[in-house]
Amino acid sequence: MANITVIGGGYVGLVVAVGFAHHGHSVVVGERDSIRVERFRAGDPVIHEPRLPELLAEAIGDGSISFTTDNRAAVDGADAVFLALPTPAMADGTVNVSAIYAVLSEIYDLLNAPAVVVTKSTVPVGENARIASFLAEHGSTAAVVSNPEFLQEGSAVDHFLAPDRIVVGSSHPAANEFIMSLYEEMPGERVTLADTTTPEIIKYASNAFLATKIAFINEIARLCDATGGDVLQVAAAMGMDDRIGGKFLNSGPGYGGSCLPKDTAALSRIGELTGVPQTVVTAVIASNLDQISYVTQYLEQQLGDLAGSTIAVLGVAFKAGTGDSRDSPAVPIIRTLMTKGATVHAYDPLAKLPSDLEDAQVDTWRDAAQSSDAVILITGWPEFGSIDFSELSTLMRGNLVYDTRNVLDGQRVENAGLRYLGMGRSAGA
Ligand code: UDX
Repeated sequence: MANITVIGGGYVGLVVAVGFAHHGHSVVVGERDSIRVERFRAGDPVIHEPRLPELLAEAIGDGSISFTTDNRAAVDGADAVFLALPTPAMADGTVNVSAIYAVLSEIYDLLNAPAVVVTKSTVPVGENARIASFLAEHGSTAAVVSNPEFLQEGSAVDHFLAPDRIVVGSSHPAANEFIMSLYEEMPGERVTLADTTTPEIIKYASNAFLATKIAFINEIARLCDATGGDVLQVAAAMGMDDRIGGKFLNSGPGYGGSCLPKDTAALSRIGELTGVPQTVVTAVIASNLDQISYVTQYLEQQLGDLAGSTIAVLGVAFKAGTGDSRDSPAVPIIRTLMTKGATVHAYDPLAKLPSDLEDAQVDTWRDAAQSSDAVILITGWPEFGSIDFSELSTLMRGNLVYDTRNVLDGQRVENAGLRYLGMGRSAGA
């Protein structure tokens, strides 16, 4: 069993840390936010992820995890130092990697072979090589291994413990083998590469491809709305072709979250910088923005002028199962509705709107629905499916229910005397 340090206690870092602790490794988390560290020590994972509280409690209980704000103390004696630091995108898609170098500047003298530095954060193509040069220039002898994380929010722990694939790459075979051995107990395909660049591209290409599938089906949904087709039937029949696959063909209000928008922007920017334009992903980004705008345009088409209207928004999270509203389509949709003069009441079982919109957030779906002219469902929370639509209809002033995720039973909604609209489902309500 290894001594593992994880620097950064965000979504990725904490999940990786408790996951390795669960498999018997001894894990130290270096997190600079002292309030977070206190909460972690008290067994509070801060973020909402299924199984995370249980695994954190288990690891604290058996002493296999500890937390510190002192990164130097965290890496001292580590066999592997995982970097799970934020790498936010700037407006033009450029990735800000300064957090990584700030931490490395603090700890490089403690990073020496056989200890291995592992990059979990999504970093631009070529960044692992730059990290390795930075460390070598500062006299560190640790190998740098790229080991991108593919976990999905809302099922992050399960994805970490049972991934589809584990990708590890560097020009140091022994370091690759050691890092791969940490995942011994986990299922999934193993991909070991002899460089750090290929794993970086695998990560961007995977997320960009997922974004492409979503943007594609969303354009088809718009076509269905315009022509009378049913996107659910289209997606289902497309998915019967194994070469296409049925997953990630659910049309919705546009993709969001902390990864797909950032990673598509980054890949497009990397294409520009390297002189290899990534035209597909660049078009996908524009198409996704169109989809987000389309939601309010379509509502306006159906409802008429939105000025003076009251709109109930169901769902603030970028997807069901998470309390995360980062880059959620709900946010620009609510802003647009407000700009058009609508009053918005938004409800989400977990996620919160950004502080400048917090007045729009209410505590129950009933509060949101009260006196509304229309309901827009943005996040596919299962609990929205069990709403009593007769009660909803008595609460509302109008009668329009716009289900941008196609998760409600349209017939049940209509049986309650309401008007149901799905996304790309003009023929299939
Ligand atoms: C994604 C990748 O899936 C994961 O591998 C990577 O490590 C991080 O980014 P995540 O951001 O958690 O994970 O969410 P994901 O489930 O991929 O959904 C991304 C967005 O696409 C959400 O807004 C979701 O609602 C939307 N989506 C997804 C659709 O609109 N339709 C789909 O069919 C699937």
